[in-house]
Amino acid sequence: MVTGASSGIGRAISLRLARDGVRVLATGRNEQALKSLVKEADGAGLALDHFPADLTDADEQSGLLDAVHGCLGAVSVLVHSAGAYRRGQLAGARVADLDLQFAVNVQAPYTLTQRLIPDLRSTSGDVVFVNSTQGLAASAGVSQYAATKHALRAMADSLRAEMSSNGVRVCSIYPGRTATPMQEKIFQAEDRTWRPDCLLWPDDLADIVAHTLALPARAQVTELTVWPTHRP
Ligand SMILES: NC(=O)c1ccc[n+]([C@@H]2O[C@H](COP(=O)([O-])OP(=O)(O)OC[C@H]3O[C@@H](n4cnc5c(N)ncnc54)[C@H](OP(=O)(O)O)[C@@H]3O)[C@@H](O)[C@H]2O)c1
Repeated sequence: MVTGASSGIGRAISLRLARDGVRVLATGRNEQALKSLVKEADGAGLALDHFPADLTDADEQSGLLDAVHGCLGAVSVLVHSAGAYRRGQLAGARVADLDLQFAVNVQAPYTLTQRLIPDLRSTSGDVVFVNSTQGLAASAGVSQYAATKHALRAMADSLRAEMSSNGVRVCSIYPGRTATPMQEKIFQAEDRTWRPDCLLWPDDLADIVAHTLALPARAQVTELTVWPTHRP
């Protein structure tokens, strides 16, 4: 199961895993975007299921879990790519924005992972958290987002410590700026010219996830930081 699959990094990961023969259920809120992903997969001869859900809504999460179990049986790979980003200096940022980012970036992956623990245990599965370099060191203007990503790192570290005896591997990936709709909005907010050629591409991260998952079960990549070579 891949969250955030309707756009950007999660979309690229979904297609790449499907290309590698993984049965993927792609989720996000935007059903049209998910349908266009399925169409692209179909066109390439790949099978990919989708189910729209707002991950901050417990009932919608339940529906998603029913769907994923109906489609795939027990989940053996869980990729958390859904994320929300809001800017603002701590002096003036809205607490409502902190709540929103906490709900999407922390609580949703927490509860979803929690509800899939029996699957992950029984399959000795993999959990991949798409974190951010802001989850390692916070810049000015993103205290809320960075705080949620630091929390996500902590969640991944505890989960790994708790689950490795079951053969469950947990990987946090910390990408720098990546050419996605989220990053394009960030460029706009920073009043910068959009230069996707200077950024990571979603496919770069999809390759990394695919290679990480393809390692033999005895080896796990725990953390990986990826920067654009030419930082914009
Ligand atoms: N782009 C970057 O430069 C960059 C760098 C470092 C880390 N990241 C992280 O990478 C991840 C993917 O980001 P991206 O750049 O690919 O952004 P994106 O293109 O904006 O995609 C974000 C995804 O999150 C989903 N999402 C947001 N709120 C949701 C909710 N309440 N319920 C379900 N899904 C929700 C969106 O789906 P819907 O809109 O369909 O709900 C969308 O599929 C995020 O965790 C982000 O923090 C991005």
